[in-house]
Amino acid sequence: MLPAASVGFVPTMGALHDGHMSLVRAAREQHDTVVLSIFVNPKQFNDGQDFSSYPRDEAQDLALARESGVDVVFMPDSDEMYPAGFATSVSIDAHLTNVLEGAVRGQSHFSGMATVVTKLLVTVQPEAAYFGAKDFQQVVVVRRFVTDLGLPVRIVSCPTAREPDGLVISSRKVRFSAEQRRQAAAIPAPLTPIVTAVEAGETDTSVLFEAGAAVLHQQGLDIE
Ligand code: PAF
Repeated sequence: MLPAASVGFVPTMGALHDGHMSLVRAAREQHDTVVLSIFVNPKQFNDGQDFSSYPRDEAQDLALARESGVDVVFMPDSDEMYPAGFATSVSIDAHLTNVLEGAVRGQSHFSGMATVVTKLLVTVQPEAAYFGAKDFQQVVVVRRFVTDLGLPVRIVSCPTAREPDGLVISSRKVRFSAEQRRQAAAIPAPLTPIVTAVEAGETDTSVLFEAGAAVLHQQGLDIE
């Protein structure tokens, strides 16, 4: 039984899309109040260019939030999140953060994300916080520091939202050229046999991975 005024929280960096809306819908079903935050967190970008070109559309975000039934939008500015002299960070062991995405973006990406998510959770104090399974490693890291720090919140991971052709929905995709969008459509298909094999209990997917990588290379895609 949830407390009467249960708060569900959806943390975002804005540029809201159907993936975020699916998190809002999941929260809406479970809570009296849904809070959504919009903050493009400078501390989790390893590349300054990626930060400055991250898509931002405040008016559209607010309209979408309103339409989808969000009750409160929390939109702090940088000084509010990182007051002068800010000297604290949440750091997670390397075995979770310098592999997979961390191997490419650097461990500081996950530390920056963990620091801001901790601050947001402490500020909003939700009963549950909703994250997309799209960012699988992020969900693993969030569950870890929430447990380790004893933060009183339930972490809910929601299924990845996809376009009709199977491509994951992502804020950054607005930067694709038409050609890049066409190439990206090749990404989901080679993943399917890997998922099927893992679900059937396979633990060594290296052969399937190499085959999938070859398909993507043929489409002109490099894998990080
Ligand atoms: O997934 C995101 O959009 C961000 O990493 C998050 C959780 C909002 C923290 O900045």
